[in-house]
Amino acid sequence: MAETMIKAVKGKTIMEFEAYLSEKQRLIESALERYLPGEGEYPPLIHEAMRYSVLGGGKRLRAILVLAAAEAVGGESKMVLPAACAIELIHAYSLIHDDLPALDNDAYRRGKPSSHKKFGEAIAILAGDALLTMAFRLVAKNANQPGIRPESVLQVIKEIGAAAGTFGMIGGQVVDLECAGRDIDPPTLQYIHTHKTGRLICASLRSGAILSGSSKEELITLTKYGEHVGLAFQIVDDILNLDGNEEKMGKTKGSDLAAKKLTYPAVYGLSESRERAGELIEEAVSFLKGFDARAEPLREIAWFIGKRDY
Ligand code: IPE
Ligand code: IPE
Ligand code: MG
Ligand code: MG
Repeated sequence: MAETMIKAVKGKTIMEFEAYLSEKQRLIESALERYLPGEGEYPPLIHEAMRYSVLGGGKRLRAILVLAAAEAVGGESKMVLPAACAIELIHAYSLIHDDLPALDNDAYRRGKPSSHKKFGEAIAILAGDALLTMAFRLVAKNANQPGIRPESVLQVIKEIGAAAGTFGMIGGQVVDLECAGRDIDPPTLQYIHTHKTGRLICASLRSGAILSGSSKEELITLTKYGEHVGLAFQIVDDILNLDGNEEKMGKTKGSDLAAKKLTYPAVYGLSESRERAGELIEEAVSFLKGFDARAEPLREIAWFIGKRDY
């Protein structure tokens, strides 16, 4: 996976970025494996379903953003691993529920049958619920790390709760569903994308920074960076749904069109959407000009988001 990411990157330090990503992905994967209940734990079916959707797939972008934001403000990525994994759990829950027949009705996710196809709808719903609940226990675990202030952990719990809730991701998902089949409406399209996807991406950056004792100015800048890469990320997701490679993406193409979703290509066309994503990435990177070399991974991640093909 890291290989595909590298081809996408514009920066000069391609080899370093490859090593960076694989190291972080390994770190996140083994932490998730450690934190999740074992498959044999009673009742085994729910634990199997949780592990099925979380482990062994996904780019781990949001978790990597938590770690990279921590490093950009002078923190240590290992310290913020519980929060990084917590956000990855919330993301996995959102994907399980997003794929349900009542929402997008998608049969494939990360190259395998989606949760409800494998376990049935009831267990898929419960696995999502369990991951969301477990995420907050995990963030609270961050309070046990020496060097992390309990007030910062509290703030991060609020941040993630807000980003995942009705003023964040759930709000975006609701409007995404309501607007299927409706007329072109640019401000609502922007609301959907910044909320269903952008808010959790922003919360990832903010959480890593807050737990690492960032300054107010750093937090404001990282939020702007996050808003821009978050919107670009969802525009690229829309483009890939129309024009991507199913095998590479591990999910079904064309579903947005079939469901008449309000997407960037539907409103602006493919080439204007690509242009807009590119502009957002350039702007995102420009916000980081006051940061030193420790923010290099964030710059590289932004280029990757703009050029990704899965
Ligand atoms: C897919 O997110 C859902 C969106 C919010 C666009 P990702 O593309 O990050 O999914 P994984 O985690 O890599 O599977
Ligand atoms: C997913 O948006 C957003 C969330 C799960 C919160 P999409 O429905 O556009 O993403 P994919 O294409 O199914 O991954
Ligand atoms: Mg959806
Ligand atoms: Mg979907």
